[in-house]
Amino acid sequence: MSETVAGPGVTGRRVVVTGASSESGVAVCAALVEAGAEVVAVGSNPAKISAVADRVPGIRTEVADLSDPAAVTALTDRLGAPVDGLIHLVGGWVGGAGIAGQSDEGWAAMERSFRTLRNVLRSFYPALAESPAGRTAFVSSVSVDAPTASGADYTAAKAASESWMRSVAQGFAKNAPDAAAVIFAVRSLVDERMRAASPEKTFAGATDVGTLAEAVVELWNGTAGELNGRRLVLQ
Ligand SMILES: NC(=O)c1ccc[n+]([C@@H]2O[C@H](COP(=O)([O-])OP(=O)(O)OC[C@H]3O[C@@H](n4cnc5c(N)ncnc54)[C@H](OP(=O)(O)O)[C@@H]3O)[C@@H](O)[C@H]2O)c1
Repeated sequence: MSETVAGPGVTGRRVVVTGASSESGVAVCAALVEAGAEVVAVGSNPAKISAVADRVPGIRTEVADLSDPAAVTALTDRLGAPVDGLIHLVGGWVGGAGIAGQSDEGWAAMERSFRTLRNVLRSFYPALAESPAGRTAFVSSVSVDAPTASGADYTAAKAASESWMRSVAQGFAKNAPDAAAVIFAVRSLVDERMRAASPEKTFAGATDVGTLAEAVVELWNGTAGELNGRRLVLQ
């Protein structure tokens, strides 16, 4: 199997998963551990992130409010080098009744979510660029391709995040040829707990968190050159 892999592989890589406390975080951390990576899972709620460590033995956890630049700098300092991966999962969702129904509270939450992405990429960029196998990714929404009135604030923040990721990709292309920045896009995410809670639902169009987790591991099975700047829609 490994003979066919063109990339550096994830085994032994140190990967930071930011916003790891949800089911997608558990799936991503578990897949990375399974593939032999060293995982640091970060969340803002101590109880939630420690519950992730209970479910995925062997990971290191860190508590940080990633919307606070000073907290992110402190986290970066605590972790030191190397950092070979940064998988950013902080999200959230807001909707409103059409354009007039986009609330300031909703936008503040979305801007805060965008700020976490900007903070972590700014802070971890040097380590990722120095790594022989630097990879970073975040999960966007297919709504960026077809924004709705009711989702204007949510989609605007995702579009800003995609733009930031493309800027990171340009930086890597210029100065760090072994690193890659990738955008994943989904319609929605689904996991086993959601399926068990609503067995009558089909979750049509939803992406299983396991598919996301596999895509994260795959980031190290391709070369930086073929991955950097790509936007991959996960079905
Ligand atoms: N779920 C979907 O249907 C869907 C659809 C399209 C795109 N996406 C995207 O996919 C990604 C993963 O989605 P998700 O639903 O699994 O994520 P999520 O639950 O929205 O966020 C993941 C975790 O981020 C942590 N977090 C929030 N603010 C934080 C902060 N300031 N500092 C540190 N951690 C923070 C939260 O844990 P703590 O409370 O412990 O901090 C939360 O459990 C997100 O980017 C999301 O927008 C999801």
